[in-house]
Amino acid sequence: MPATSMEELVSLCKRRGFIFQGSEIYGGLQGFYDYGPLGVELKNNIKAAWWRSNVYERDDMEGLDSSIIMHRLVLRHSGHEATFSDPMVDNKKNNKRYRLDHLVKDQKEGVIARVAAEIGEDASNFPAVVAALIKNPAKASEALKTAGVRDAFSGEVGDWTEPRPFNMMFKTTIGPVADEESYGYLRPETAQGIFTNFKNVVDSTSRRLPFGIAQIGKAFRNEITPRNFIFRVRELEQMEIEFFCTPGTDEDWHAHWLEKRLSWWEAQGVPRSKIEILDVPPEDLAHYSKRTYDLMYDYPTLGHEEIEGIANRSDYDLGSHTKSQAELGIQARVEENNDSVAKLTIPHPETNKPIVPFVIEPSAGVDRALLAVLSEAFTKETLENGNERIVLKLRPHLAPIKVAVIPLARNKPELVDLARKIKSELQALGLGRILLEDSGNIGKAYRRHDEVGTPYCVTVDFDTIGQNEGEGNADLKDTVTVRDRDTLRQERIKISELSGWIQAKLR
Ligand code: GAP
Repeated sequence: MPATSMEELVSLCKRRGFIFQGSEIYGGLQGFYDYGPLGVELKNNIKAAWWRSNVYERDDMEGLDSSIIMHRLVLRHSGHEATFSDPMVDNKKNNKRYRLDHLVKDQKEGVIARVAAEIGEDASNFPAVVAALIKNPAKASEALKTAGVRDAFSGEVGDWTEPRPFNMMFKTTIGPVADEESYGYLRPETAQGIFTNFKNVVDSTSRRLPFGIAQIGKAFRNEITPRNFIFRVRELEQMEIEFFCTPGTDEDWHAHWLEKRLSWWEAQGVPRSKIEILDVPPEDLAHYSKRTYDLMYDYPTLGHEEIEGIANRSDYDLGSHTKSQAELGIQARVEENNDSVAKLTIPHPETNKPIVPFVIEPSAGVDRALLAVLSEAFTKETLENGNERIVLKLRPHLAPIKVAVIPLARNKPELVDLARKIKSELQALGLGRILLEDSGNIGKAYRRHDEVGTPYCVTVDFDTIGQNEGEGNADLKDTVTVRDRDTLRQERIKISELSGWIQAKLR
């Protein structure tokens, strides 16, 4: 059974070294997390699985790694300067700041109903309530006070300001001279690096439509209220595809990617039955989107929340970054002239005329993926002897440690040396991390490796080195015990056959 609460996961992550609070020794920095020894392995394995499936296993994809800090004009023409904001309100009593929709959603049901009544909306349609509050700032401020909306920090009814937009982009100075224009933005999505490199990739690879560009990398959002562990953070990592196609074929490609992405999640151990597909209503679409499907995974404690968005961005971005938009029949998206020097076009596959292609964008968060994978793998079991064990039933390709090689006693050089040799041989197979586990307590080692999801533990004992002189034990020389994480079965395997055995199991 998957994890039933976020607390269980948070506790496991800290205890076993998956995730730590960022800047912890100085009290922590809200919305920033560090991935520990096992977290970094799990994260890398998720990213590798995504890259394999979306780049290597297809014939219509290229990869990219673009810079994190971008020219301020990229984010102006993309529409982010004007629209990448969330509505915020302040409590004048204690100067605490909240994201409006989070503040209202966290109130007791009766309070939400009163807010809805005050603003003249139906409480069962929460997005409409929030939209009405944003549209009528003066009325909203009164509605929040009259309805008795409480401050999460003080617990008292707040004296709420009017809601106003808060732009979530991090600005950063560039170079030693501070003038009005010497700043850039930390990208709020990796996508913009793909759009700005569209022409470079086309020219250097001779790609024709349809084809896509994949990128994995950091993105930054100054979330008003980061929360729920790594679910909503200010520094996040995204796995994004921009798939370029001929206008008119975009809806078919949208359906194609929806299906592909659902089967990818399934292969990571996140079943379709736990993902709801939300066809985002027009009023909630991002500024660039023609249509978006949000994949809503059923997170423990949080319920259904977005793990991935699959958007049809039409010709919005390539068009917006293109000079002479009118010539191409594209309506300019920003009032001033476009500053770009590029014409982001590609020949139409049939007419050969230059066109701005449409884009389908599957965009998944690595942090949210890791949380879902952990949550599905987390299992509490009662063993035959009545003991309880926690085991992470991760798919082997995601497991941070593939095999732990354990010498039965840490003070016996023959055992330790042989275990080290076996570890090196398994490591050379290139399957991922193989760990020499010489803590000396076999019971504790098994418990630890169950909890971190190691598929196999290989134990080197006195039989292995021919020092157990009981009857029949001579046959066990040069064999090791291999313990299976999920079935708990233990098998004796010849050392000479171990590499082949492990390779077959972990392939
Ligand atoms: N390029 C499209 C885009 O960025 P998005 O829906 O804003 O779309 C895509 O983000 C994915 O990035 C989300 O589905 C989520 O998995 C992840 N994500 C977004 N904001 C996040 C945050 N503050 N913390 C963690 N993950 C986040």
